[in-house]
Amino acid sequence: MSDPIGQVRAAFQAEASAQTLDPPALELERLERLRVRFLGKKGDINALMRQLGKLPKDQRRDFGQAVNALKTEVNDALLTLKAAANTRAEAAALDAGWLDPTLPTHATDARVDGLPAMGHQHPITSMLDTVIDHFTGLGFEVASGPEIEDTWHNFDALNIPKDHPARDMWDTFYTTQGEVPRTHTSSVQIRTMQTQTPPIRVISPGKCFRNETIDATHLAAFNQCEGLYIDKGVSLGHLKATLEGWIQRLFGPDLQIRFRPAFYPFVEPGLDLDAQCFLCHGDGHNDDGVACPVCRTKGWLEVIPCGMVHPNVLRNCGIDPDIWSGFAFGMGFDRLVMLQHGIDDLRRLYNGRLDLVRQL
Ligand code: PHE
Repeated sequence: MSDPIGQVRAAFQAEASAQTLDPPALELERLERLRVRFLGKKGDINALMRQLGKLPKDQRRDFGQAVNALKTEVNDALLTLKAAANTRAEAAALDAGWLDPTLPTHATDARVDGLPAMGHQHPITSMLDTVIDHFTGLGFEVASGPEIEDTWHNFDALNIPKDHPARDMWDTFYTTQGEVPRTHTSSVQIRTMQTQTPPIRVISPGKCFRNETIDATHLAAFNQCEGLYIDKGVSLGHLKATLEGWIQRLFGPDLQIRFRPAFYPFVEPGLDLDAQCFLCHGDGHNDDGVACPVCRTKGWLEVIPCGMVHPNVLRNCGIDPDIWSGFAFGMGFDRLVMLQHGIDDLRRLYNGRLDLVRQL
């Protein structure tokens, strides 16, 4: 009786055990070729898997298990061989005297109390972790989607049809194929609603792009996190409580916030959650009467646009608005970092200079 699994195993073992005195770099290349040959998409093991369908039903289970066992075996063997080649490479480098792992780093200032300075997270990454920690704690899941979107997911499905003036709110760039670097991660909400059935609770952090005139509070590429909650009987009260809880987690109970009506085509009603300006504390000017550069005299900063998901948006995603309702919110988390640390200019977070980042 033919034994296709045994043949593949034997072929692999013969190749794997072929003694090689090649330099480690060549050996690593050889191992990569073996990986592709046996574990790659078009590799021998996948070919075995494809035979599964042709077998009589009562043999499939055992065959499938045996192929999987072989896969694990091959994978483990390759990892072991790779580790050995890497160890050999390090030993050779040490012997040759050009690798001294005890040498300090080059940066002359990278020392704290005489010890090499430890790196730390960029404040935007820490904010991302905090957002995820907070909302997953409330039962939200993290969803992601493509950064280059089609216009249906970025606009039409969100109740912003072509030629509607509201598209100008997200003036942006287009690829020559007519796609957009997404202007918000609301497109991920659409993708989630298309593929999941309610109840839905997701947050979607990610990069967004807009044709902005760059200033202290606007960037053309920035980080955003949107949230979406769809269930039966979701009300504005749930939205307010959720966002108030989040702001308090970030800034403590003392930061003044307000909700104010606002227009976004994909929510009805729409709101803006504003926080009191951290620089002028709501005055709009400094003590000498100079206009506040952060809030530009408004005294408040728009932090979290939000609202109740528009019935058209639910319908566009195949969700019946007579049964389900929900809220959505979006926040530029670069701005949250700005508020958190009292940074007067967003560009400081992205200019590649470490003087600010090191202080945080
Ligand atoms: N998508 C909006 C933006 O980026 C933010 C938003 C999300 C507003 C959800 C309301 C509700 O501007």
